[in-house]
Amino acid sequence: MVKICCIGAGYVGGPTMAVIALKCPSIEVVVVDIWEPRIAAWNSDQLPIYEPGLYDVVKECRGRNLFFSKDVEKHVAEADIVFVSVNTPTKTQGLGAGKAADLTYWESAARTIADVSKSDKIVVEKSTVPVKTAEAIEKILTHNSKGIKFQILSNPEFLAEGTAIEDLFQPDRVLIGGRETPEGQKAIQALKSVYAHWVPEDRILTTNLWSAELSKLAANAFLAQRISSVNAMSALCEATGADVAEVSYAVGKDSRIGPKFLNASVGFGGFCFPKDILNLVYICECNGLPEVAEYWKQVIKINDYQKSRFVNRVVSSMFNTVSQKKIAILGFAFKKDTGDTRETPAIDVCQGLLGDKALLSIYDPQVQKEHIQRDLIMKKFDWDHPLHLQPKSASSAVEQVTVTSDAYEATKEAHGVCILTEWDEFKTLDYKKIYDNMQKPAFVFDGRNVVNADKLREIGFIVYSIGKPLDAWLKDMPAIA
Ligand code: NAD
Ligand code: UGA
Repeated sequence: MVKICCIGAGYVGGPTMAVIALKCPSIEVVVVDIWEPRIAAWNSDQLPIYEPGLYDVVKECRGRNLFFSKDVEKHVAEADIVFVSVNTPTKTQGLGAGKAADLTYWESAARTIADVSKSDKIVVEKSTVPVKTAEAIEKILTHNSKGIKFQILSNPEFLAEGTAIEDLFQPDRVLIGGRETPEGQKAIQALKSVYAHWVPEDRILTTNLWSAELSKLAANAFLAQRISSVNAMSALCEATGADVAEVSYAVGKDSRIGPKFLNASVGFGGFCFPKDILNLVYICECNGLPEVAEYWKQVIKINDYQKSRFVNRVVSSMFNTVSQKKIAILGFAFKKDTGDTRETPAIDVCQGLLGDKALLSIYDPQVQKEHIQRDLIMKKFDWDHPLHLQPKSASSAVEQVTVTSDAYEATKEAHGVCILTEWDEFKTLDYKKIYDNMQKPAFVFDGRNVVNADKLREIGFIVYSIGKPLDAWLKDMPAIA
């Protein structure tokens, strides 16, 4: 029986290994982590992450050929293939702070592998890493190897949160990069045979190590660039009276462009797009390519512009002040169907409104109160270090913020409602009831274009929808970006 161990039981390690265990009953898969409460949660009925379909997969294999353990050393030592799926956040201090990837967690995982291994192993980079990380990891492993042979492969993950299980069941592609030596090619084949249990062969791509590492950063940069492109258009649509949904539809009908990932929004968030693009910018700068770095930096700049443009629109519409006004925030996660809030645009929008002294009442179906309070007082990028995240005591909570357990309570007596996550339930709320319980004039600022603006206007709301023709009210109160 082949044994797989995965270091890192997070959003990638957990679901990816659960699907490998489900599809490959002959392989024993153990997911290990140094964060004990996370492992305990994986072994319980309350999994540590919310992902549609995940619980069913875990329930089917846990205890059969899928295990979660805090005993990192034992399971790494026993494994034939070791996946490393630890966090690779943006550095917050030192050289490259604010841009470069922090490889502390990766290096510590590599040193553990070197220390405890007693047999040859294939080590698989699952985390998203800068190009040439495999070379550094190889050096750590070979300099500490005591004669044991390691083959390094790059196998970046392309799943998206909220659709992780679907993405893993039917991936567009699985990418495996390895050394062009006979041993490297043999390792590629070994990993390929794992995925071949359920992924058609023509979807398993093999490349050299550096192409695989760079393809992951490139794919995220291209995807984020599409969103920044449509968001830049959304500002122009508002200025000209065009409708961004109609423009996106017309543009996406071109088969060379395609319809996906063209939804205008309050900005992209998530653990990966912001950090991976910053990392790409840093790599370009380090390789003496300032023009290329500048090009990708614009994707982030437009994203920041989109968030501040939204805040400005809220404040300017409400007579240029939200001081002491209750504003309801519907949705805090960075997208629907996840409880993940890392780099969510809601943090920047809420902080912007709090800066103008608003009183926020926040509701998200999957994000807990302590979590929201913690995110609002944390420094940028600190939330990418999950082990250091402790819920803050009530005394350190932001006084102007309350968190509610439903949308009606959040909106009661509010002056305005900001929709920041596209949760399905926000489409079907009783907006008449909400309107009746709000202060007047009552505003809705739809950062995800989920509500039917015309229907809301009939009820009496003043509505702002990203990239859509503006109400007369909003035209009279232009936002200064
Ligand atoms: P995560 O923060 O949810 O999980 C990482 C886990 O690694 C944590 O639980 C942490 O305790 C553990 N860890 C860190 N150092 C360790 C060590 N030395 N030994 C054992 N455990 C250790 O991160 P994630 O969202 O799963 O992302 C992991 C990697 O995958 C990142 O590089 C990310 O860019 C990439 N990625 C993420 C996604 C996504 O949707 N989240 C998708 C594709 C790729
Ligand atoms: C993204 C990629 O889609 C995955 O392929 C990749 O593996 C992953 O990053 C990663 O490397 O971590 P994820 O961040 O989970 O996945 O979610 P996306 O669906 O890509 O959404 C990212 C952000 O863009 C969200 O805030 C979402 O609301 C926003 N978005 C997405 C838009 O604003 N408009 C769109 O049309 C699509």
